Amino acid sequence: MTVVVTAENGVATVTIDRPEALNALDVSTLTELRDRLGELADDASVRAVVLTGAGEKAFVAGADIKYMSGLDPEQAKGWGALGHEAGRLLETMPKPTIAAINGFALGGGCELALACDIRYASARAKLGQPEINLGIVPGWGGTQRLARICGLGAAKDLVFSGRTIDAEEALRIGLVSAIADPVLERAHETARDLAGKSPVALSLAKRLCNLTLGLDHAGGLETEANEFGDLFASEDAKEGLTAFVEKRAPNFVGR
Ligand code: CAA
Repeated sequence: MTVVVTAENGVATVTIDRPEALNALDVSTLTELRDRLGELADDASVRAVVLTGAGEKAFVAGADIKYMSGLDPEQAKGWGALGHEAGRLLETMPKPTIAAINGFALGGGCELALACDIRYASARAKLGQPEINLGIVPGWGGTQRLARICGLGAAKDLVFSGRTIDAEEALRIGLVSAIADPVLERAHETARDLAGKSPVALSLAKRLCNLTLGLDHAGGLETEANEFGDLFASEDAKEGLTAFVEKRAPNFVGR
């Protein structure tokens, strides 16, 4: 088993555990990751998901280069699609996903972090999209998500050059939200906070934020206005608003 899932108080932690390859993802690890993420997406008892790598050195050092070196174009397409399935689950599951980047996050590792909703980095983290140096390009969403998160200029800089950046630079360009050590602790702190919020409102917030990925701006604003109104039918919205007025902590029931 190279993907370990633990859960406590509504927060699931997914740890990629393949230290002999700096947690690089081979077929069985990536398949396992995709499958575990699918289960967590459907598990209502899980309110937030944290993704990290085992050990001190790496988050994920990328797709497994040894495996990729033997792929023909058809196989490479399947490999790309599998990475995309894992990324889309992180990006769209109806609960927040947080990357705790505890070391190298290169290539596919950086791309999985980019698919998460929030990213924190250890001071020793190194991030980048080095694919160009292998004669390929990012294949698990990096060419699309990096620009959306950091802007087109920063994305082209990193994707064209393949250079590796440290945590400070990642923070400066908005690739991570904060630098913290131990980074897993920081991620858990945020995950616990988010797990205490209304899952109804939080999943809608995520879906609406994600609309920027697909819809035109006017359409996104219109959908936001409609869904905002519909949310007032939920018990959680009534409870949250009433609790504020009554100066007490809300008790969200998830409806
Ligand atoms: N795939 C397969 N094996 C990997 C790997 C990867 N991405 N990254 C590291 N490893 C393996 C190394 O081969 C080595 O194994 P052996 O001891 O059996 O040779 C072991 O992990 C330890 O690595 P190093 O000895 O290289 O450790 P280091 O500290 O000297 O260097 C590193 C660390 C800078 C991260 C270096 O390992 C490295 O450059 N790795 C490759 C990073 C990379 O290019 N990632 C992008 C992959 S392409 C991709 O992800 C495509 C995509 O978009 C889907």
